[in-house]
Amino acid sequence: MGIRPQPDRIIIFDTTLRDGEQSPGATLNVEEKLAIAQQLALLGVDVIEAGFAVSSPGDFEAVRAIAETVGKPDGPIICSLARAVRQDIQAAAEALKPAARARIHVFISTSDIHLNYQLRKSREEVLAIVEEMVSYAKSFVGDVEFSPMDATRSDLPYLYQVLERAIAAGATTINIPDTVGYRTPKEVGALFDGIRQNVPNIDQVILSVHTQNDLGLATANALAAVEHGARQVECTINGIGERAGNTALEEIVMALEVRRPYFNAYLGRAEESEAPITNINTQEIYKASRMVSQLTGMLVQPNKAIVGSNAFAHESGIHQDGVLKHRETYEIMDAASIGLAENQIVLGKHSGRNAFRTRLQELGFELSEDDLNRAFHRFKEIADKKKEISDWDLEAIVRDETQIQIENGFQLEHVQVTCGDCTCPTATITLVMPTGDIQTDAAVGTGPVDAVYRAINRLAQVPNELEEFSVQAVTGGIDALGVVTVRLRHGDRTFWGQASDTDIIVASAYAYMNALNRLYRHLNTLPQGEKVLAGQ
Ligand code: KIV
Repeated sequence: MGIRPQPDRIIIFDTTLRDGEQSPGATLNVEEKLAIAQQLALLGVDVIEAGFAVSSPGDFEAVRAIAETVGKPDGPIICSLARAVRQDIQAAAEALKPAARARIHVFISTSDIHLNYQLRKSREEVLAIVEEMVSYAKSFVGDVEFSPMDATRSDLPYLYQVLERAIAAGATTINIPDTVGYRTPKEVGALFDGIRQNVPNIDQVILSVHTQNDLGLATANALAAVEHGARQVECTINGIGERAGNTALEEIVMALEVRRPYFNAYLGRAEESEAPITNINTQEIYKASRMVSQLTGMLVQPNKAIVGSNAFAHESGIHQDGVLKHRETYEIMDAASIGLAENQIVLGKHSGRNAFRTRLQELGFELSEDDLNRAFHRFKEIADKKKEISDWDLEAIVRDETQIQIENGFQLEHVQVTCGDCTCPTATITLVMPTGDIQTDAAVGTGPVDAVYRAINRLAQVPNELEEFSVQAVTGGIDALGVVTVRLRHGDRTFWGQASDTDIIVASAYAYMNALNRLYRHLNTLPQGEKVLAGQ
């Protein structure tokens, strides 16, 4: 293979659907993954890592569906992860067949700590596996990425040797993962320099970086890699991912955009070049962020860079005064550049169905007639309690009303709570059971939410452990909608639910029901014999 010209732009490899989905409790079903993949294509990512095909039938189906629907000739490259074993590579190749442009991403650990304690293999054995499995992947697709897992804690001369072999066997992209998020930017820069100087055939491939955020350095490390030769960055929307997450796509893209003259120099361009460094349509960033948050149930912290609700808010009087006089006094980027409408249109109880539909379309929500009807009905209910309905409120309404409806699950009919400083918190709950029966029960608890959850459990009888309960106000003001997120654990799996209401006890009850129904659906789709028919 000849020398591959290094691009003067950065390839964005999105792994929201693979590494991102490894966030505890963020499981997505096939339809949800497909919806995100479609948004990633609109965003303009170059590569979508759609999943880990061998890991479950659901993952296989998601990779296949994304390959078929999104993997068009003018669409992104669709990729599946595979361990360096034949069965994984075969599953990846099979699932990727419908994609116009497919990539298999093969990985194996190279650090001694992983070799000795996890793989229990010698360095020589791993070298042979890399050679054999990269060429096996190459027998299916031309585009093969290789990752030496835990690269940043690997012995350097050995790492160079592994990379040389992977390239000789046909890898076209070499990805360097900081798997445990251990390194600092200076160290990452030195590592990339070392690789470029010591791997003789490195010029034949694209160098990539994959950084985890355990020390909060993921984005800084990825940008350091760019300064030292990386031309592909692996990242996720909102930075979700294993443990503390990954490099956030929006941070990488906006850093390269806002500081373009600075990065131009590292990419061999003229400092003043205005050509974008990535293919990303930045105006789709905000929509992608909300969609991923909504479908994974992982709220974005308000102070999150670029996409947090406070990212463009100015609290201090001095800052407000400055921004009003000249935006750039305190803002380095324009909210509109990430697709965040500058002037939020506020709807109220006199707004009609048309205004409601139009605003949702402007915000990027295309709802089915049924979903729109339910959302409009809910909007009217909330508008009766809350004077102004902002875009944030509309998003919460859409999130509630488009959550997957679990057929034959439980439905909350009524919730009533008594509490106060001299009262034992008591909740009365009426549920429509999966059989269609209507049942009522009551329970006391340490607080009103605890009482509600105990009463629901008495009726539903679906064993679970409450792992997370959080409430976040959608906007400021005493009449704000509260969004409640609940995660329930059952065995080694977590199920999430979310709901919003101006009454946080009601939101808590609905969020719990949503999570419980997800768990209930899981239990009832287990193979026969393991099937648990709870609550009937
Ligand atoms: O963190 C990691 O090492 C990975 C690789 C599979 C790229 O996710």
